Amino acid sequence: MEISGEMTDSRTVIRTRDLSKELPLGKVVVHALRGVNLDIYAGEMVGIVGPSGSGKSTLLGLIGGLDKPTRGTIEIDGIDVTNMNEDQLTEIRNEKIGFIFQFFNLIPTLTALENVALPIQFARKSKFDPEKRARELLELLGMGDRLHHRPSELSGGQQQRVAIARALANNPPLLLADEPTGNLDTEAGAMVMEALQDIRRESGTTVVVVTHDQQIANSTDRVITLVDGRIVGDVMVDEARNHAPSVLK
Ligand SMILES: Nc1ncnc2c1ncn2[C@@H]1O[C@H](COP(=O)(O)OP(=O)(O)OP(=O)(O)O)[C@@H](O)[C@H]1O
Ligand SMILES: [Mg+2]
Repeated sequence: MEISGEMTDSRTVIRTRDLSKELPLGKVVVHALRGVNLDIYAGEMVGIVGPSGSGKSTLLGLIGGLDKPTRGTIEIDGIDVTNMNEDQLTEIRNEKIGFIFQFFNLIPTLTALENVALPIQFARKSKFDPEKRARELLELLGMGDRLHHRPSELSGGQQQRVAIARALANNPPLLLADEPTGNLDTEAGAMVMEALQDIRRESGTTVVVVTHDQQIANSTDRVITLVDGRIVGDVMVDEARNHAPSVLK
């Protein structure tokens, strides 16, 4: 099944330069991001790790057009989005980006199938049949036997897989996930990460996962570490494994 037209190549899907975010907090200013330069390429699966307050969610929110930087630039898929107005950003979000959150954010009164079909029904000119597309995505994510269950009738891991299918509904080239396993046990978390890897492998979708869990980060291809609003590490996971003491391999 074609779930995305984008295949792995050297195209830069996310490019930030000197990206900075300052937030007023009473009388002081919090430097949430301090000059982040980052290039993420098409088809990569990237983990962003770092301690609480290091700026992970701020970075993801800026990349996703949910917030504006104080300084610096952001390009998404070759388009400079830095100075876009709210309407233009909404269009970029709808066309290019799928979001996944820690608390799933599914609509409780709708079935799995209806939750996934909804964004396709809302899209202005979709090439997909909502129900057919929703069914295919849910089957791909191992949820084919849960199509007519409501969120309350699903486990956390199953709800997150429905949320992933929903994020993919309109075929975005980029998936952004903030702590997608934060509310799941180890096993369900691992399944969600496998599902994201499958999506990336099969469709070339670029995936960025924010997590504070090093184990989860190690199931991506490339791990970027933020400390105090700055990138302090950027390693390929295979390299990291190769350089690890043999007992850790
Ligand atoms: N609305 C806000 N107003 C003021 N300061 C904020 C606001 N949102 C975030 N911050 C501050 O910006 C910094 C970065 O926050 P951010 O939420 O990006 O961290 P994080 O790495 O995602 O942390 P966590 O792992 O706890 O989710 C923190 O010091 C935080 O206190
Ligand atoms: Mg956060």
